[in-house]
Amino acid sequence: MTRTLTPGRLIAATHNKGKVKELKDLFEPLGFEVVSAAELDLPEPEETEFTFSGNALIKARAAAMATGAPALSDDSGIAVKALGGMPGVNTADWAGHPRDFYKAMEKVENELNAIDAEDRSAKFVCCLAVVWPDGHEEVFEGESHGTLTWPPRGEMGFGFDPVFVPAGRTETFAELQPEEKHAMSHRADAFHKLKAALL
Ligand code: IMP
Repeated sequence: MTRTLTPGRLIAATHNKGKVKELKDLFEPLGFEVVSAAELDLPEPEETEFTFSGNALIKARAAAMATGAPALSDDSGIAVKALGGMPGVNTADWAGHPRDFYKAMEKVENELNAIDAEDRSAKFVCCLAVVWPDGHEEVFEGESHGTLTWPPRGEMGFGFDPVFVPAGRTETFAELQPEEKHAMSHRADAFHKLKAALL
């Protein structure tokens, strides 16, 4: 049975600053105190699953067990239609170590050029998982559809935002104000599903 998530301390099981900011924007107005895994110096578990939900659960389980508090994780990525859904769950890995998202965006662009792709449609996917310390788990998935542009444009957001133009807009996610991105993002879509079910 679905469980109510009571406002209070919520561990954001991520070290990604862009995600932490967006999760705080979404959850703090509802009375949650969002504390990130990075702020608590928690280790980053290895993401060994092949689905967004699987990897989201790995991260939330690890943070809930380490802190004894409910944990929220975000596993997300961009799926490019002409590339058969790549980079998908491997989006972060395409940025290499240390992460360089310009390099990752350029790699996607090069792959599209290599196959002369006319279809530049892509979607962002976000899986939000909530895990309680007693092991109860809930997962919600959201999507945002759009097209890829080149070269990258805009200074806001993070990751692939500068090359993603959401459907119905001409600006990239990185050119939109945070409130505008929250009105149409994959993360906000998953958040609204979570809110309807758990809050
Ligand atoms: P992971 O969930 O830690 O495996 O990483 C997902 C990667 O997908 C991020 O590092 C970003 O590059 C990308 N990504 C996920 N959500 C967004 C977003 O809202 N904007 C831009 N890039 C995103």
